[in-house]
Amino acid sequence: MADDVVQVEREGGVAVVTINRPKALNALNSEVLAGLEAVFTALAQDADLRCVVLTGAGEKAFVAGADIGEMSDMGPRRARAFSATGHRVLDRIAALPVPVIAAVNGFCLGGGCELSLACDIVYAASNAKFGQPEVKLGLIPGFGGTQRLARRIGPMRALELVTSGRMVGAEEAKAIGLCVDVHPPETLMDAVLAVARTIAKRGPVAVRVAKAVQAAGLEAPLAVANAYEQEAFGNLFDTFDAREGMAAFVEKRRAGFENR
Ligand code: CAA
Repeated sequence: MADDVVQVEREGGVAVVTINRPKALNALNSEVLAGLEAVFTALAQDADLRCVVLTGAGEKAFVAGADIGEMSDMGPRRARAFSATGHRVLDRIAALPVPVIAAVNGFCLGGGCELSLACDIVYAASNAKFGQPEVKLGLIPGFGGTQRLARRIGPMRALELVTSGRMVGAEEAKAIGLCVDVHPPETLMDAVLAVARTIAKRGPVAVRVAKAVQAAGLEAPLAVANAYEQEAFGNLFDTFDAREGMAAFVEKRRAGFENR
């Protein structure tokens, strides 16, 4: 629906999820968090899904943070619950079985930056601004910014950003690993959709297994993580798609994957 705060469009195996509160720079209030939770819960059940693109409506912002108006009325108990909800929703996005690509089309601050950190791959428009400005409000990040940011860009750079509240432009964001590449605002979505369509063409079981094995391995010591890979690599040889993919290479033809 046009007025839904979280919208989903589908093109084959690619779903585009848009946070649609442009007048509030797509700030994450309880309604948006509930919408994201519902959408990603449904997408997680979808066997035909290959890749998701997540973006913000309008030309100014991906997401400018958690909704400060809503937070300003909270006491510690509600704030703890709000943080827990944000974590639950972002965990659900991070745990989606297929890759989630963030198309960061402008401000990507606070809860918005944390949302990008829950995504697997991030591309930014050249006008994007990343940051964790919570200290300017006398707060700390509440949706994972003290944790996922350090894991993505390293603890030293992360703490510099979290304690200064400084905004980072797109090129610096690329240099420090907050995004993989930068595009002009007008072509960002086409560039991101091209990546999503490429992923959608690959062996679907392999793509899901690659994401799952990397995620599980990052929580484990390297030797254990490498054992996960060996097990998963071997298991794929039982799939139609791996047989088909290797046969197609040997026979010099395009593989016809069947997601099994
Ligand atoms: N929450 C609620 N409303 C917000 C918002 C937010 N995080 N960010 C922007 N808006 C609203 C503004 O209040 C304004 O609404 P009105 O037109 O009704 O006044 C509208 O969006 C447009 O914003 P501005 O007029 O401020 O636009 P600007 O171009 O002058 O500035 C900006 C843009 C620098 C992003 C500025 O809006 C800003 O600093 N926003 C807040 C950023 C922030 O502090 N984010 C962190 C929030 S805390 C958090 O996220 C905690 C957590 O980890 C869970």
